[in-house]
Amino acid sequence: MAVLEKTQMLSDGKDKTIYNTTDPDIYLMEFKNSVTTNDGEKRDEITGKGHVNNEISSLLFERINGIDIKTHFIKKISDTEQLIKKLYIIPIEVVVRNYIAGSLVRRLGLDEGTPLYEPILEFYYKDDELGDPMINTDHIRILDIISQETEGEIKEIAFMVNETLNQIFSRIGITLVDVKLEFGLDIKGNIILADEITPDTCRLWDIETGKKLDKDIYRRNMGDMMLGYREVLSRLKSIRT
Ligand code: TMP
Repeated sequence: MAVLEKTQMLSDGKDKTIYNTTDPDIYLMEFKNSVTTNDGEKRDEITGKGHVNNEISSLLFERINGIDIKTHFIKKISDTEQLIKKLYIIPIEVVVRNYIAGSLVRRLGLDEGTPLYEPILEFYYKDDELGDPMINTDHIRILDIISQETEGEIKEIAFMVNETLNQIFSRIGITLVDVKLEFGLDIKGNIILADEITPDTCRLWDIETGKKLDKDIYRRNMGDMMLGYREVLSRLKSIRT
């Protein structure tokens, strides 16, 4: 195979930039140092964030590839870059929650940290102008985003990914509070786990102390977020086989 090179930029997001490559089936995804809150009120550049997130996401996707769930991840090729499979990205964010936190505290008035006796799942419609609203099965049907069969399969895979992540994190003394997942379809219509899994897209708490190790440190002005992110990476590396 000829040496693969990055070509035109395809999209420049808040946290990542995607490039075409000389292979038509492969994109290059670059993790940035920028960090923002959803409401856009805070924005910063944090040295080392792109590198740490690329490492964390690569390690987690390698594990998930290893348990026979299809993912877009091919390999990490530099500190901040990884190669991924080209997909059609389904415009839905899937949030799986194991404990009450974040928007669920605001929406349901329950206490942060309350365990859920079984994981729950929510869909959000990826649409910046609408502010990514939460949607249900009926909304997915009338918007004609995916078939009911695909929706059912996505739910099943999302719960499996959540279970795998629960196992990985519990081994390193971390509680997976919630996680946001994205999915795509390949040319054959296979459902593929996409995007990233990092402390930007999960809530992670130390099991012993309850200390936050994720983006809530930044969202809630609780200190140096990179201390949490580096802690997650170093614990993940400690169980690398
Ligand atoms: P929430 O409690 O704010 O709804 O967030 C649930 C999880 O989803 C949390 O781990 C953060 C993650 N998330 C994203 O990755 N991107 C987003 O745009 C939102 C709203 C949440």
